[in-house]
Amino acid sequence: MSRTVLITGATGTVSTALLKALTDADVDLRALVREESKANGLRQQGIEVFVGDLDDARSLPQAFEGVQDAWVLTPNGPRAPEHNMNAVWAARQAGVERIVRLSVVGAAHDAPNRSGRLHALSDRETERCGMRWTILRPHWFIQNLLNEAGDIAATGTFSLNMASARIGMIDVRDIAECAARVLLDDPDRHHGQTYTLTGPRSLTFDEVAAELSLALDRSVTYLPVSDDAKRKTLLGYGVPKWTVDMLEEYAQAYVSGWGDFTTGTVADILGRPPRDIVDFVRDHAAAFTSTDDN
Ligand SMILES: NC(=O)c1ccc[n+]([C@@H]2O[C@H](COP(=O)([O-])OP(=O)(O)OC[C@H]3O[C@@H](n4cnc5c(N)ncnc54)[C@H](OP(=O)(O)O)[C@@H]3O)[C@@H](O)[C@H]2O)c1
Repeated sequence: MSRTVLITGATGTVSTALLKALTDADVDLRALVREESKANGLRQQGIEVFVGDLDDARSLPQAFEGVQDAWVLTPNGPRAPEHNMNAVWAARQAGVERIVRLSVVGAAHDAPNRSGRLHALSDRETERCGMRWTILRPHWFIQNLLNEAGDIAATGTFSLNMASARIGMIDVRDIAECAARVLLDDPDRHHGQTYTLTGPRSLTFDEVAAELSLALDRSVTYLPVSDDAKRKTLLGYGVPKWTVDMLEEYAQAYVSGWGDFTTGTVADILGRPPRDIVDFVRDHAAAFTSTDDN
């Protein structure tokens, strides 16, 4: 009998890629969304959808009933540990066999960023959840560059407070494929494992700009800016102060060299190297040239 896999964060960046990676797999896919209005697209893909909110523990039991494997993704924010707690409790009450959790690179009680420290709390909880568990700790998402696509399309430049930081950035599609592999393998195989997932090389944003220039056949320049300048821009776009502070902490950590490493874990799990920035810019070139929606 097929196993039922519940995907939380189902409309977001990673879980959308995960649903795609699981499309043809021999599992029954179930998605958790916050609003009924977000269910239709998923239902059209043949996915069973439950409406529930990780903010509200009472909205979750039905979604976890009959599930064997739960993919737990918590949105970035100060309530992330509460979200994880609600999901893990609902899973436990429903008799779920396995949790596969999305954490973050460098999650630790002494991480230099609040997101890493919050994730550490949920990682510890997951390790003691009484179910089988696997934790994925991905590095900086290459897809974050899509936030710069509007500027790049309009001006050929993008501005970050990353100075000459080197980051072992990873394509989200590889995170999703690793998550899919874990979810499809026997529950014992990855039980108790924490996998730090990175791309194949550690890159500066000057090097990213050079790859974008090559792929788009036009000049793209990275403009390093101060923390204060970036803060002002993000607040101006309406990004919440908590998120702006969190991003600044990451930027400062990366500038200090904290993210300058890669691992061989994606290749170990998938049996092939992770996607390179070259693959990302080739596959997303249109986003960096179109000025629509930006
Ligand atoms: N960006 C990076 O470089 C990076 C690197 C490593 C790890 N991470 C981690 O990745 C995670 C974010 O993943 P992502 O980028 O795929 O997320 P995302 O695109 O921001 O999507 C978040 C998802 O969570 C859902 N959601 C938000 N609040 C919810 C709630 N109260 N109850 C139920 N669902 C809720 C959203 O639903 P709606 O559609 O309703 O909003 C959406 O589906 C964070 O834990 C972050 O720390 C990020």
